[in-house]
Amino acid sequence: MQGRVEPTPEVFGRDSELAALRGLVAADRRAGAVLLAGAAGIGKTALWEAGLEMARAAGRFVLAARPAGTEAGMAFAGLIDLCDPVGPEDLADLPAPQRSALEVALLRAEPLRGAAPGPHAIALAFLNVLRGMAAGQPLVVAVDDLPWLDPLSVSALTFAARRLRDEPVAFLLARRPGSPSPLELVLAPERLEVGALDTNALRRLLASRLAMFPSRVLLRRIVDVSQGNALFALELGRSVRRGGVPAGNPDMILPTSVEDALGARAVALIPGVRRLLLAVAPHQRPHSRNARGRRRTGHRRRRVRRRRAGPRRIQGAGIPSPPGGRSGEPVRTAGASRGARRYRGCGR
Ligand SMILES: Nc1ncnc2c1ncn2[C@@H]1O[C@H](COP(=O)(O)OP(=O)(O)OP(=O)(O)O)[C@@H](O)[C@H]1O
Ligand SMILES: [Mg+2]
Repeated sequence: MQGRVEPTPEVFGRDSELAALRGLVAADRRAGAVLLAGAAGIGKTALWEAGLEMARAAGRFVLAARPAGTEAGMAFAGLIDLCDPVGPEDLADLPAPQRSALEVALLRAEPLRGAAPGPHAIALAFLNVLRGMAAGQPLVVAVDDLPWLDPLSVSALTFAARRLRDEPVAFLLARRPGSPSPLELVLAPERLEVGALDTNALRRLLASRLAMFPSRVLLRRIVDVSQGNALFALELGRSVRRGGVPAGNPDMILPTSVEDALGARAVALIPGVRRLLLAVAPHQRPHSRNARGRRRTGHRRRRVRRRRAGPRRIQGAGIPSPPGGRSGEPVRTAGASRGARRYRGCGR
C-alpha cells in the first residue's frame, strides 16, 4: 500500500535543503525529524512535496496532511488526512477499544453507545498503528503548515512522537515563522531555514511556470523586488504580463510588495468573486484567545507608533486608489481592521 502520489513540480535551486531531505528519508536512516521554516511564499511546500516524493522513491510509506486555516477548528481533521491511506487491515491488530476509538475519530464508525471516545485511546491507537505499519515499511509522517493542524490532531501526534523510539518513522514538518508547536518541542527537529531563491533558480521558475524569459535587467529587478521569494517573483512575472510591458523594458514599474501584486490580481476578478474572497481572506488564520490578546496588544502598539509616525504612504503600483486617497498619496489607515488594511481598495 502506498500514500497518494501527486505530480510534484520541479524544484529549482535548494541543493542543500534537498540534500538534507534526502538524508532524512534515506533507507538506512531510521528516525529523524526536519522542520522547513520560512516566510510565506518562500518555497516551503515546494520542498516539503519534494521530500515526500523522495521518501516514496526511497521506499518509505507516506502519511501526510496539509491542514488549512479554515479547518483548524475541525476535530481530528489532520489525523483523518494523515490516516487517509491507512486501511482496515492496518487497524485489525489493535486492541478492540483502541480500534473502535480510532475508527470513530476518523469518522469511519459510529461511537459505541453514542459516547465519544477519549483522546487517550485515540492517541494510543494512532501510536500503535504507526508502530505496526513501520514494522513492515519505514514511514514518513509529514505535516505542512503545522500551526493550522487542529489541536486534537496535534495532541495525538505529539503523544505518538513522544513514545516512538527505534521505529523507522521520520517526520517532515513545515511552517511559517512563529512559536513552535508542542510536536516540535517533542521531536526537536533539524531546522532548515528556507531563504531566498537565487537568481538562476528564479529565472528557471519564471521560465517553467510562466514561459517567461525576461532580459537580464528585468530579471535583476524581479530578484531585487521579490527578494528571492518564489510566490512574489511569480506574481511579479504575472504583473509584467498583465501590464503588457515588453519583457526587456527596465523602466517598468513593479509592485513593491506581494500584497500589491496579489491585490492587482484580485482587482481583475469579477466583482462577486472579488467580494467573496475579500470577505473570507481576513479570516484565514486561526488563533487562540491568547494569540488574539497578544495581537490586540500588538495592534495597539503599532497604532500608537503609526500615530506618532504620521500619515502612511500607500504604494499605488497596480492597486486602485484607496477610498479617500489617490494611489501613492499619504492616507491614514489607523482604525481600519488588519484585514481591511491588507485588502484595501481591492473590493471596489
Ligand atoms: N525552489 C522552487 N522551485 C520551483 N518552484 C518553487 C520553488 N519554490 C517555490 N516554488 C513555487 O512558488 C510558489 C510558492 O511556493 P510555496 O507554496 O512552496 O511557498 P510556501 O513557503 O509554502 O508558502 P506558504 O507559507 O504560503 O505556504 C509555488 O507555486 C511553488 O511551487
Ligand atoms: Mg506552503
